[in-house]
Amino acid sequence: MSAQSETGRRQTPSTIRARKGAEPIVCLTAYTTPVARIADQSCDLVLVGDSVGMVLHGLPDTLGVTLDMMILHGRAVARGLSRAAMVVDLPFASYEAGPQQAFAAAARVMAETGAQAVKLEGGAHMAPTVEFLVTRGIPVMGHVGLTPQAVNTLGGYRVQGRGAAGDRIAADARALAEAGAFSVVLEKLPASLGQRITDEIAVPTIGIGAGAACDGQVLVIDDMLGLFAEFRPKFVRRYAELGRDATAAVAAYAEDVRARRFPGPEHGFADEGTQA
Ligand code: KIV
Repeated sequence: MSAQSETGRRQTPSTIRARKGAEPIVCLTAYTTPVARIADQSCDLVLVGDSVGMVLHGLPDTLGVTLDMMILHGRAVARGLSRAAMVVDLPFASYEAGPQQAFAAAARVMAETGAQAVKLEGGAHMAPTVEFLVTRGIPVMGHVGLTPQAVNTLGGYRVQGRGAAGDRIAADARALAEAGAFSVVLEKLPASLGQRITDEIAVPTIGIGAGAACDGQVLVIDDMLGLFAEFRPKFVRRYAELGRDATAAVAAYAEDVRARRFPGPEHGFADEGTQA
């Protein structure tokens, strides 16, 4: 089935929510209009992730991403979507202080980008904020497990929820679902925990490194397209090698320019009065 529902409507947080336990939900990140157009043809959900800071802006982590950056990229992505639902990440320090701060940030994202929902990181402690937003008309996607905005307290990007720690992450996911989140991202968890949470909560789980049992999957699009030769997380399958191909293309161009093989006669313009 395509990104449109059987009735031909655009995907929304409600149609995504209704897919619990049904056909897997397909999600990728996008940060620009042309990439959003590509993702829109096959995805149910497009996430404007704060990974944009690392992927496009060369930041060392997601902590330096601002609300203005998310809004700029959100607006670009919205121009490329007509079928998939669009979710925009709330960046670090734009929502954690409390529900009022979160509402102000989320309202800007919704009004200025046309997103249908926001995503925020954190477990049970964010449940009151999720409820505050949802009851005021802002659909929310939760995000538990490895939460990159907490990299400094987590001590790195390790797998989360092994052993007894899994109970806390499962409780976090339950709290978000009960607070009204329409779906919850599970990042970098043992597959058995991904399965357990998917069984326990009433809304779709969207996994990234959390096993095949999740109700959907998300990847950073640049990772699955192989744009970074050196970055190969275990949970990513590469569907293309665009980094390698682009490097070879640029090298070939450089050789052609240096050897005066480019431009060729077919790339030039004739003088006035002659053809072509
Ligand atoms: O920022 C992001 O791209 C994300 C996904 C990896 C889930 O949060």
